[in-house]
Amino acid sequence: MRKAKLAVFASGTGSNYDAIIEAINKGTLDAEVTLLVCDRPKARVVEKAKRNGTPSFVFDPKQYAKKEMFESKIVEILKEAEIDLVILAGYMRLIGKTLLQPFEGKIINIHPSLLPSFPGLDAIGQAFNAGVKVSGVTVHYVDAGMDTGKIIAQDIVNITDEMTREELQNEIQKVEHKLYPETIQKLISRGESS
Ligand code: GRF
Repeated sequence: MRKAKLAVFASGTGSNYDAIIEAINKGTLDAEVTLLVCDRPKARVVEKAKRNGTPSFVFDPKQYAKKEMFESKIVEILKEAEIDLVILAGYMRLIGKTLLQPFEGKIINIHPSLLPSFPGLDAIGQAFNAGVKVSGVTVHYVDAGMDTGKIIAQDIVNITDEMTREELQNEIQKVEHKLYPETIQKLISRGESS
């Protein structure tokens, strides 16, 4: 059977990109990363994709007069590559109508808090500063809002009194790297990627 084709969208380090590649290599995720889309030419994830031989579309949003323009280009590339699922992994932009409409229900995101708590930027810092004793990770469908789409999966991280912000971040990342590939595999098995 044809493997599900994933496009990973990232703007930074790409540790979730790594975790997805690792799960594929281990055989726990039955898919291929067909494409990396990155809006920051200097991001570390771009180098990683090169090393792994993942084709990439790297662009600088400043080169486009409007969001619609780079999103139309992305839609064209996703269709050409027959992408089944768009995986946002630290892509630091809201998805606009141009991209959302043709891929409605096929775009997912990972967020480092238990949504609907602490949406938006620096969710880990927000949770840490709020003094909550439990936080975690959410995988959700993407809609037009900021971290507001339907929740697919969540996992928790306990925050102890001794924990530093950095330790919390490490714990959150560990959970992300397990939860994201597992959730993608579940969606693929349920046939939600075709
Ligand atoms: C992750 O914490 C993810 O939850 C958030 O952005 C971060 C990306 O990290 N949306 P990385 O680039 O995958 O290391």
